[in-house]
Amino acid sequence: MPIIQTKNLTKYYGKTLGCKNLNLSIKKGEVFGFLGPNGAGKTTTIRLLLDLIRPTKGSAKIFNKDVRKDSIKIKENIGNLPGDASMYGKMRGIDFLNYLERFHKNNRSNYKLELADKLDLDLKRKIKNHSKGNRQKLGVIQALMSKPKLIIFDEPTTSLDPLIQQKFYKIILGLKKKGHTIFFSSHILSEVEKICDRVGIIREGEIVAIKSIPELRKEKIHYLRVLLKEKVSPEEFEKLKGVIKVEEENKHLVITYKGNINALIKKLAKYTISDLGFKETNLESIFLDYYK
Ligand SMILES: Nc1ncnc2c1ncn2[C@@H]1O[C@H](COP(=O)(O)OP(=O)(O)OP(=O)(O)O)[C@@H](O)[C@H]1O
Ligand SMILES: [Mg+2]
Repeated sequence: MPIIQTKNLTKYYGKTLGCKNLNLSIKKGEVFGFLGPNGAGKTTTIRLLLDLIRPTKGSAKIFNKDVRKDSIKIKENIGNLPGDASMYGKMRGIDFLNYLERFHKNNRSNYKLELADKLDLDLKRKIKNHSKGNRQKLGVIQALMSKPKLIIFDEPTTSLDPLIQQKFYKIILGLKKKGHTIFFSSHILSEVEKICDRVGIIREGEIVAIKSIPELRKEKIHYLRVLLKEKVSPEEFEKLKGVIKVEEENKHLVITYKGNINALIKKLAKYTISDLGFKETNLESIFLDYYK
């Protein structure tokens, strides 16, 4: 049974498209990254899942229950951090957390203190006196403190510094190990590569790809730089499977290719190689492709 399942989930704000025909299925224990450029429909999807707005068409289930009909029951087991969380500035962090905790059945745990310690947050300060990043930490803590089965975050790491981001990833991976499911939107490609099992990419309201990280890596583009003793024309390599383009650069050939490297290596082995190297690439190029 999937933890989240949507069926042709669609939202129009009047004539403006929010999201269209989303069919998502998120498994238990999965960390699912939801990526897309500004205005793509990420927040809209999250709000639909949380029953904060209503779909124009289609439906969504969480824990196999309809998000509209069983909204209250479902929320007992969801932790959420919205992208634009507002907080009571006059409260101290600890009072705010204690207050929110009272909405939960399984309340009163020391986990919030443990989290504050891990994220290096002083809970005794008034919220309005906190920096943006520290308020974000408080938002993360309130989402996690009840140890919910499903955690939904809208761009959780915005305004967290790199050190705290690392700590945040560690907490998320720890929760995943214990069987919690995490759905979060992001613009940060490296974090998605680091912590997600699968990634869904949304563009102009529609899903353009849902892939596992290994699948995405297979699509990764590589650059091989080689110097051959013999004079070989670039066309020799251009016709090989997977080769995207071949350019000459300071007598070297720079070969851009995708996927399996074997055909290319076998072809190269027919010549005398004087120099060979790879240029390191990341997933960015793939994501940018989908974004476009
Ligand atoms: N309340 C609203 N009324 C009208 N249009 C809206 C409303 N909320 C969102 N939209 C529109 O729906 C589309 C999707 O917006 P959404 O906020 O879901 O994008 P997003 O992927 O979360 O973007 P970002 O990365 O900037 O947070 C945009 O065109 C946006 O202008
Ligand atoms: Mg958004």
